[in-house]
Amino acid sequence: AQDPLVVFTPSGRRGRVPSGTTVLSAARMLGVDLDSVCGGRGICSKCQVAPMSGTFAKHGITAGPEALSEQNAVEARYDAKRGLAAGRRLGCQAQILSDAVIDVPPESQVHRQVVRKDADTHPVETDPATRLMMVEVAPADMHAPEGAFERLSAALANEWAVGTLEADLPMLAAVPAALEAGGGRVTCAVFADHRGGPARLTEIRPGLLADGIFGLAIDLGSTTIAAHLTDLASGSVVASAGAMNPQIRFGEDLMSRVSYAMMTPGGAAEMTLAVRTALGTLVAEVAADAGVAPERILEATIVCNPVMHHLLLGLDPVPLGQAPFALAVSDSLTLSARDLDLGALPDAARIYVLPCIAGHVGADAAAVALAQRLDLRDDLSLVVDVGTNAEILLGNRDRVLACSSPTGPAFEGAQITCGQRAAPGAIEAVRIDTETKIARVRVIGCPLWSDDPGFAAAIAGTGITGICGSGIVEAVAEMRQAGVMDASGLIGSPEATGSDRVRADGRTWEYVLHDGSATGGAPIRVTQNDVRAIQLAKSALYAGARLLMDEMGVDRVDRVVLAGAFGAHISPLHALVLGMIPDVAPDAVTSAGNAAGTGARIALCSRAARAEVEAIVGRITKVETALAPRFQEHFVAANAIPHASEPCPELLR
Ligand code: FES
Repeated sequence: AQDPLVVFTPSGRRGRVPSGTTVLSAARMLGVDLDSVCGGRGICSKCQVAPMSGTFAKHGITAGPEALSEQNAVEARYDAKRGLAAGRRLGCQAQILSDAVIDVPPESQVHRQVVRKDADTHPVETDPATRLMMVEVAPADMHAPEGAFERLSAALANEWAVGTLEADLPMLAAVPAALEAGGGRVTCAVFADHRGGPARLTEIRPGLLADGIFGLAIDLGSTTIAAHLTDLASGSVVASAGAMNPQIRFGEDLMSRVSYAMMTPGGAAEMTLAVRTALGTLVAEVAADAGVAPERILEATIVCNPVMHHLLLGLDPVPLGQAPFALAVSDSLTLSARDLDLGALPDAARIYVLPCIAGHVGADAAAVALAQRLDLRDDLSLVVDVGTNAEILLGNRDRVLACSSPTGPAFEGAQITCGQRAAPGAIEAVRIDTETKIARVRVIGCPLWSDDPGFAAAIAGTGITGICGSGIVEAVAEMRQAGVMDASGLIGSPEATGSDRVRADGRTWEYVLHDGSATGGAPIRVTQNDVRAIQLAKSALYAGARLLMDEMGVDRVDRVVLAGAFGAHISPLHALVLGMIPDVAPDAVTSAGNAAGTGARIALCSRAARAEVEAIVGRITKVETALAPRFQEHFVAANAIPHASEPCPELLR
């Protein structure tokens, strides 16, 4: 009789296999993506399949014509102990006896598509560089001289088709003890990256264990650091945590940190130590939060701007402070946690640092490009990642340009009189009545507006403590719309504005956003200096965008994407009124949330994405703002509110 014909769905792969072949073996023969950690020992249950038709050796039949081997009993034992869902079989145990159609459910595919939980539904394909593999290693033999590591390598090659295997000395040292304790059975974490080099042993434990492994996607900003702990098998985030970048004490913006490195002997090393220590604390925190042992975190990806990149890696940042802004290294890097002294992670954990685009445009912009893929679109997108430095990308499938612009920390609420970081109690939204010139505000952590009944009681816990980045942007835009200040950004006198909310502040005027009397706090005000700081920041952002548009030869874009934590909260209308971004229909402005962090997560979960981001970076044209005379022209022209070009008339009510 002919061998059974087996068809796998959803891949559609098919072929004939000898009767009695297990589904897992058939999948491997036919190149079907079916997961396995225990290597077919009936322990990990990663190989579950749903047979749609066909005859398979049944559970527990140990006698009679269908009793092909012990495998049925293994599956029955698994079923009795841990339970198999109805219609599911262990692929490594179920033997194919007739023509069959077998479905591989998404959770049993190694390369699965996972839709993220956050607003951005871009699917993350999981194809992690690190995988768990269980093996049984031949015992030591007096007559065969191979070492324990070589026997392990041979077993991994044999059972898992792992190519050349490498390991650091401490890992080599751990192999004999693990083999001994596990009676030859061990679970290994093996890292094999997208570049196809030798595989690397990053963990070895005695016994057969199918618990998870995790990775960290780290977005290292000049002001804040965010870490997302991600289950490497599923691609889902299990916990996130953030911290302030402690380098702030050496300088708020990047250039002052570069000056610190230049002027202070040992200054760069001091900053390197500070950021590595903060990362270590953050890792411990996020792991504790998720109830994950830090030893289970075997990979991390890092995105950051070039100065942070150099300071983290312990490279001299000084050349980044002056033309030609030369990077010590621009390509992606794969390092070990030990190289970076990240004590909270196992030494052998692998760290992938995304590539930098140029001396001023870093791996964070590369990550945004990976998350947004504007290079796959026909329409022209402007993507701005707003932080202390704005990363700006402009492009479509023909061409992508990038630059960065020094917006300073004002958009993050820093250097603003009543400014504060985004936290409960901070004003995040402002509406000023054009008649009365009185502002209503909303604070983070409370859905009510300040003139809603019950507001004072609702915020009693925090009070109103200050104003965050999105709040100050709205406040300045609203002040302009309400006529509290003119197009040059000058706050008018009480007589000129007809508002008793304006009061003297030295030789200039300030506007009282919230007087604090009803809520018992200090007044929250916007001074002339605050308006100037926002004007400088928004002019830098706008000028960077215009510079890219000049370079592209266009004077309109089809869509604007606001990225970054601040970009996620800012109202598109207020961004347009303020003139932060070039004119575009308000509904063409969208928020992408933390796109750099998303890019870090995509690269964490997928080797293909690492190859992709490296290819994208190779195609991006870098535009240097610091050297372009047009940047200065645009910057000066953009100082007005909205900006010197025609404002969107429908926006000014
Ligand atoms: Fe582990 Fe089947 S491969 S249970």
